Amino acid sequence: MTTQAAGAHQSNLIAEDIDAYLQAHEHKSLLRFITCGSVDDGKSTLIGRLLYDSKMILDDQMAALEADSKRVGTQGGDIDFALLVDGLAAEREQGITIDVAYRFFSTDKRKFIVADTPGHEQYTRNMVTGASTADAAVILIDARRGVLTQTRRHSYLVSLLGIRHVILAINKMDLVGWSQETYDTILAEYRAFAAQIGITDFTAIPMSALKGDNITEQSDAAPWYDGPPLMALLETLPVEDDLQSRPFRMPVQWVNRPNLDFRGFSGLISTGVIKPGDKIKALPSGRESTIDHIVTFNGDLDQAVAGQSVTLTLKTEIDISRGDVISIASSPPPVADQFEATLVWMDDEAMLPGRPYLLKIGTRTVGASITEPKYKVNVNTMEHLAAKRLELNEIGVCNLSLDAPIAFDPYVENRDLGGFILIDRISNRTVAAGMIHFALRRSQNVHWQALDVDKAARAALKGQRGRVVWLTGLSGSGKSTIANLVEKKLHANGRHTCLLDGDNVRHGLNKDLGFTDEDRVENIRRVAEVAKLMVDAGLIVLVSFISPFRAERRLARDLQAKGDFVEVFIDTPLAVAEQRDVKGLYKKARAGELKNFTGIDSPYEVPETPEIRIDTTLTSPTEAAEQITAWLEGELDYSI
Ligand code: ADX
Repeated sequence: MTTQAAGAHQSNLIAEDIDAYLQAHEHKSLLRFITCGSVDDGKSTLIGRLLYDSKMILDDQMAALEADSKRVGTQGGDIDFALLVDGLAAEREQGITIDVAYRFFSTDKRKFIVADTPGHEQYTRNMVTGASTADAAVILIDARRGVLTQTRRHSYLVSLLGIRHVILAINKMDLVGWSQETYDTILAEYRAFAAQIGITDFTAIPMSALKGDNITEQSDAAPWYDGPPLMALLETLPVEDDLQSRPFRMPVQWVNRPNLDFRGFSGLISTGVIKPGDKIKALPSGRESTIDHIVTFNGDLDQAVAGQSVTLTLKTEIDISRGDVISIASSPPPVADQFEATLVWMDDEAMLPGRPYLLKIGTRTVGASITEPKYKVNVNTMEHLAAKRLELNEIGVCNLSLDAPIAFDPYVENRDLGGFILIDRISNRTVAAGMIHFALRRSQNVHWQALDVDKAARAALKGQRGRVVWLTGLSGSGKSTIANLVEKKLHANGRHTCLLDGDNVRHGLNKDLGFTDEDRVENIRRVAEVAKLMVDAGLIVLVSFISPFRAERRLARDLQAKGDFVEVFIDTPLAVAEQRDVKGLYKKARAGELKNFTGIDSPYEVPETPEIRIDTTLTSPTEAAEQITAWLEGELDYSI
C-alpha cells in the first residue's frame, strides 16, 4: 500500500474524532459522473485538478507527479495535472488514453466516482461502458475551437444513455482572454444543438482547468459569470433523487433457502419503497403475495428503499426464481418478448440479424435474436442511415425477439429494467449494450395455440422418433451424396423421412437469399425452423447445408428437444474438396468470378463436438451412409 499522506482528503475531524469522520464519510452521497472530451480539450488536466484540489493525491504520487512534470510535462516546469490521469507510461508516450478509468475522490460534502473514457469515435463502446451508471456528464469544450463534431457525438451518447445532468465545461477560457462573447456564442450554438437531441437542461461553466479558475473556487477572471464553480455544482447536483418515488421494483438475484423454514428473495432494490404488509406481484408469472419481513444482516427493517440490498419473505408461498422481478402489485412493469431498442454494437464481429444471442437484463438471461436494423445513426451528424448489420461502435435501432417473456420498463424510466447487454453464445463476449424503447404490440396479440395432437402422438403413429440429422461441411465435401444414401437406407427400412438440401431449398423457400454472412444466417434460421416443424410432424429430417457458422448450428440444435439433433460433420479438407470441384465453383471462386465462397473468402467454422464425424479421405460415401444409419437405427425406434 502507498503511505497515507498528510495530503490525502484532509478534514480536521480525522485527527479530532475519527469515528465521527468515518460516520460522516459513510453517509455522504455518491455522485457518479463521466467526463467527455479529448486530451486536447484538457480533460485529463481537469480530472487531475479535481483530484488535486480535493486533496486526494498522496504524497508519493505528488512527488512522482512533480518529477514527471519536469521530465515529460507540457507545462514548462509547472505541475502537469494531465500526467496524473493519463496513467500508464506507454499510453502517455503515445499521447492517448485507452479504456475506461474510474477514479474516486471526495470532499466534505460528497463522494465522487469519475469515469474517464477516451474521446475518439473508435472508443464509443468505452464511453458507453463508463456512462452506463453515471448521474452526470461533464462535456468539455475547448473555448478556442467551440462546438465540434466530437462534442455533438458525446452529447448524443449522453442523451441516449439517459444521463440526466449535463455540465458544459467551456475550458481554456484563459486562452481566449476570458471573452464573454466567445462564451455566449458557444453557449448559443450548443443550446440549439442540445434541444435537437433531447437535452433540455444543462449548466455551462467558463473555466480554465490548467489555471484552476472556476474549478473549486469562483474565479475573478470572469466577473460576468455568476454561476457556481464546477466542484460546487458537482457537490449539489441531485443524485438518484426520484428513484424512491417510483413504483417498487426488485430483480431477484437469488432465492435464499438456508433451511426448510426460511425462503427469502434477495436482490438490490431498483426503484421505490417496500414495507411489510405491501402487496407484491412477481413477474413474468403475475402471481401475487404480501411482504412478511424485510431481512438484512443487521436485522429486520420497517421499510427498504431503492439502492438497498435486502431479502424479502412473503406471507404466502409463490413460485419465484432468480431473474424474476418483484414489483408492487398496484403498478407492475409490463411483460413482453418483443421490443424495439437502441443497440450500441461493441464487438469486432458484426451484429447479424437472426443470429441467436443471450440477452441479460437485470438478473435475467434469455435467448434473443435481432432483426435487420430499422436504421443506424451517424453519431457525428445524427443522420439516420439504412443498414443491414451493425459494426463495432455503430448505433442502431432494431427489433428484438426473445425466447421467453421478461418484465421490463422503458430505459428512459428505469435503467435497470430497461437497459440490457447482449452476449455472444459461443465466445461469451459482451457484444452490445441496449436500451428498450417499448414492447411490440404484435407480441401481445399473438399467443401460443394449444394443440391436442402433438409431436409424440404423431411420432407414435409412425412408430419412430422424429429427429434432425444435420450434415455440415464445405461445398463439395460430399454432404448431399451421403445424405441421399442415408435417406435411401432409412426409407428402405420403412422410416418416414425428408431431405432438405441447401441447393434445392435455395431454389424455393430461400431463393431470395445470397451468400453474405447475413443471408447465410437467415438461410440456416429458416431451414432450422422448417426442420423443427418436420420433426414435430414425426419425420426423420436430413439437412444438408454448408451451415458455416457455429452460432446458427447451435440455434438449430436448441430448437430441438435434447437428443433430437444429430450433428454430422462431413470432414473434407479444403484442398480435397477443391480438387474434386464437382460443380466447378472452386475454380470460379479462385478466378474471382464468385465472391464470398466458403473456404476461399468466406469462413467455415469447424464443429467442435459433432455427434458423428466422417473423414471422407478415409471413408467412402457408402461406408459413411452405413455408419450414420447404424448410429441412428440404434435410437430411432419410438419409445417414451
Ligand atoms: S450455406 O452456407 O448458406 O449453408 P448452402 O448449403 O445453403 O450454404 O448452399 C451452398 C451451395 O450453394 C453450395 O453447395 C454451392 O453449390 C452453392 N454456392 C453458390 N455460391 C456459393 C458461395 N459463394 N459459397 C458457398 N456455396 C455457394
